[in-house]
Amino acid sequence: MTRIHVTVDGVAYSDEVEPRTLLVHYLRQSLGKTGTVVGCDTSNCGACTVHLDGVSVKSCNVLAVQADGHEVTTIEGLAEDGQLHPVQQAFHECHALQCGYCTPGMIMQACDVLKDNPDPTEAEIREGLEGNLCRCTGYHNIVKAVQQAAGQMRSASSGSGETADATEAAEVSA
Ligand code: FES
Ligand code: FES
Repeated sequence: MTRIHVTVDGVAYSDEVEPRTLLVHYLRQSLGKTGTVVGCDTSNCGACTVHLDGVSVKSCNVLAVQADGHEVTTIEGLAEDGQLHPVQQAFHECHALQCGYCTPGMIMQACDVLKDNPDPTEAEIREGLEGNLCRCTGYHNIVKAVQQAAGQMRSASSGSGETADATEAAEVSA
């Protein structure tokens, strides 16, 4: 067993883990962070996506010991002061989910895409999410939600008070 010190969703943890323990299993089984889910265990689906020091990673492809000394954010740590993150809110408003299994990973990946590119084209959003699979194939509304969130986040950061460009979002092609 190896002791790790990791901050998850703003809380510091110190735990003994087996060196082979995957980060996703540590999050779910040791910390009860079941919002992060396993869809494949082979780094294909992206359902397990979390942020490691602010960058999205597939947590089934990272060992818990690799997170030692680092900061992890899961879907459960995204909301602040009881307010959904703009990407979470947009997924809700755009009905960007069906069964919801891919949703935590999609949202975490979308946040990473928007951090690097606050004003992505539809093609750039689709490319940014290409490592995340939706078995319900609801990609149209997912892209629409990311566009809406991008508009809201740009407005918030500019302080202009403008509302998201809903027209632009509605024009996303299937
Ligand atoms: S469970 Fe990690 S990529 Fe599918
Ligand atoms: S909403 Fe069902 S897998 Fe994406």
